[in-house]
Amino acid sequence: MNIKKTFLAVASIGAVSGLGLATYLFWPISYQQRDFAGIEGDVSRGAYLARASGCFACHTNAKTKGPVLAGGGPLKTPFGTFYAPNITTDKKNGIGNWSLTDFSNALTHGINPKGENYYPVFLYPNYTSLSNQDIADLWAAFQTVPPVDIKVPEHDLKFPFQYRFLLTAWKKLFFKDERYKPNPEMSKEWNRGAFLAKGPTHCAACHTPQNLLGGKDYGHELNGNANGPDGEKVPPITATALLKNKWTKKDIVFALRTGTKPDGDAFGGSMGEVVTDGTSYLSDQDLSAIAEYVMSVEHKNGKSVVKVKTQK
Ligand code: HEC
Ligand code: HEC
Repeated sequence: MNIKKTFLAVASIGAVSGLGLATYLFWPISYQQRDFAGIEGDVSRGAYLARASGCFACHTNAKTKGPVLAGGGPLKTPFGTFYAPNITTDKKNGIGNWSLTDFSNALTHGINPKGENYYPVFLYPNYTSLSNQDIADLWAAFQTVPPVDIKVPEHDLKFPFQYRFLLTAWKKLFFKDERYKPNPEMSKEWNRGAFLAKGPTHCAACHTPQNLLGGKDYGHELNGNANGPDGEKVPPITATALLKNKWTKKDIVFALRTGTKPDGDAFGGSMGEVVTDGTSYLSDQDLSAIAEYVMSVEHKNGKSVVKVKTQK
């Protein structure tokens, strides 16, 4: 084969496999809607979970002291500015016309009622770990939110990120539809903490590095993120990093309850909001579970690993 023919052969193999890859990446994802038959939602459990999950922090505009859950202030990211929608029971501008299934598809599959993708800045990659009971509880609690007739601005995104179909490729690369699987080697407390930290309270989402496409690098879980919300630098919170700064498990519980660090300084930026709108409402037991989990993650030899303890 001469050089020209070899080149053509290689180029056409490249083109065909590129086309194959593109077809694979953008082919719609089939997904199984959750089945809520026989499940009764509990309002107070749902309200607690909504606090734990930060729904209030993003969906309420703290800067303008806007009405609760009627839409958030600007969320700046490398892809542009997002506005968390009005999720009150208002029929026009909120989710007053939604069903439990619409809510579940949004929170756990990142799909809107028209069948389009949501951006992962809405943390469905974390909320997908919630059980069917959890989702039904949240839904029951959201039914009690009074309607507020406020229209939230459209997102202001850089080209080409305004195209929601592109997120199909993102989901194929980075989204896993899985419930939390308990680790049988670890205690009940640790498992509760791991579920909260990776799922609803999403410590891992902010404190873990991400790639240029916003995919999380869980090989370095909790090891800090140079590109956090509003371009903030998020510090590492592995046991390795926290022990170096002399944090104890008790200090973490105290900080998540009060927003005050062991050196007496208050948390700034988004961590301040995480405490005010979220963790300050959690039970001592849950805060202690989160601290137990965080203090079990070490960053060694360039990766995050869990220290396996022998006690159950
Ligand atoms: C980090 C910020 C953030 C947190 C935390 C968050 N959301 Fe959102 N949420 C958003 C953004 C931004 C969107 C819009 C996403 C899009 O347009 O693709 C959104 C979209 C939604 C939607 C779709 C609304 C619509 O009109 O299409 C629902 C429902 C929702 N969120 C509920 C929740 C609930 C319930 C929680 C807590 C369990 C929560 N969100 C936590 C930022 C957040
Ligand atoms: C929305 C993003 C976000 C989320 C979610 C988040 N954090 Fe943070 N966290 C930050 C930022 C930003 C800082 C730095 C704040 C500062 O130093 O004032 C921080 C600081 C901390 C610190 C102090 C570290 C140090 O060395 O000073 C601890 C501990 C911490 N977070 C634990 C947690 C835990 C546990 C969770 C889950 C319950 C969590 N964070 C969820 C953004 C976040």
